[in-house]
Amino acid sequence: MAAQRRTVTVITILFGVLLGCLGRSDDDPRLIDLTWTLKIGIPVHPIYPNYTFTIINRGVTGALGVYLESNEIYMSEHTGTHIDAPAHFAQGAWRLDQIPFGHLTGPGVMIDVRDKIGDNPDYPVTPQDLQDWEREYGRIPDGAILMLRTGWGEQFWEEGPAAYLGTDHTRNASLLHSPGLHPAAAQWIVDNRDVKAVGFDTISADPGDSTTYETHLILLPNNVLILENVAHLDEMPPTGSTVYAMPIKIGDGSGAPSRVFAIVDDRTSAGVTTTPNLIFIVTSVIMIILQAL
Ligand SMILES: *[C@@H]1O[C@H](CO)[C@@H](O)[C@H](O)[C@H]1NC(C)=O
Ligand SMILES: *[C@@H]1O[C@H](CO)[C@@H](O)[C@H](O)[C@H]1NC(C)=O
Repeated sequence: MAAQRRTVTVITILFGVLLGCLGRSDDDPRLIDLTWTLKIGIPVHPIYPNYTFTIINRGVTGALGVYLESNEIYMSEHTGTHIDAPAHFAQGAWRLDQIPFGHLTGPGVMIDVRDKIGDNPDYPVTPQDLQDWEREYGRIPDGAILMLRTGWGEQFWEEGPAAYLGTDHTRNASLLHSPGLHPAAAQWIVDNRDVKAVGFDTISADPGDSTTYETHLILLPNNVLILENVAHLDEMPPTGSTVYAMPIKIGDGSGAPSRVFAIVDDRTSAGVTTTPNLIFIVTSVIMIILQAL
């Protein structure tokens, strides 16, 4: 009788472990890469140099006697998918390597403003647009990383730099056209919400026709980081993810190319949340009942 009970116990434990593993694979976080590949021809802001990539070795080298690939790159810190450190527009504020590590990750919020843009290529996202999102999805969680989806990202590579920058003159900043964040909306964020960073699928946080860069000048001195040229926002859910924006750690940098990604984990608050594994709970209950029999 005791032996039989031990067998039942062993079988239930094995069964429980098996189901627990199955449950875990169902719960695997979904990774979304929000980063563009750095390649020659990548659209850059008119005030920065073009990205260059030079092959140095691609073959057997005399020096090492083995097959070797190595390249050299040249670019501004503000190239491709990148982060703006507060010091970019605010003297004395955090430079890149002074940003606390925890400030580079937070609950992900994706605000789709494509329907608001109409035919204004310099559409400024308003406080009302942010509040409309909150009415549908709830309050922006503390410590959030906000992503604004304007749809411009969909034109990043597909139609060449002119489609993304709004001009063929890739060297004249006053000819840029792309949506951005209205300074009033930047101020609303700073005054009313606890946001770590705001990301854009455009070349700049400010609308293309801005000549004063007010949105930069409101967000950065308040330690709200800016992410520009964020990719694949079409894959990001409005809520329920954690975003990581991990720049190359450039000492004294004003910004840096960053690997930005989201993990879809049903997270909706600043605290660490875990998804209860239902199968594990049910198996545990069954085990306890069988033990008691
Ligand atoms: C920089 O890149 C743009 C777009 O790819 C191109 O039109 C322009 O000629 C390049 N400028 C230089 C100096 O190479
Ligand atoms: C840039 O474009 C503006 C607006 O058309 C023009 O006034 C200005 O002269 C241009 N600057 C250069 C350097 O071409």
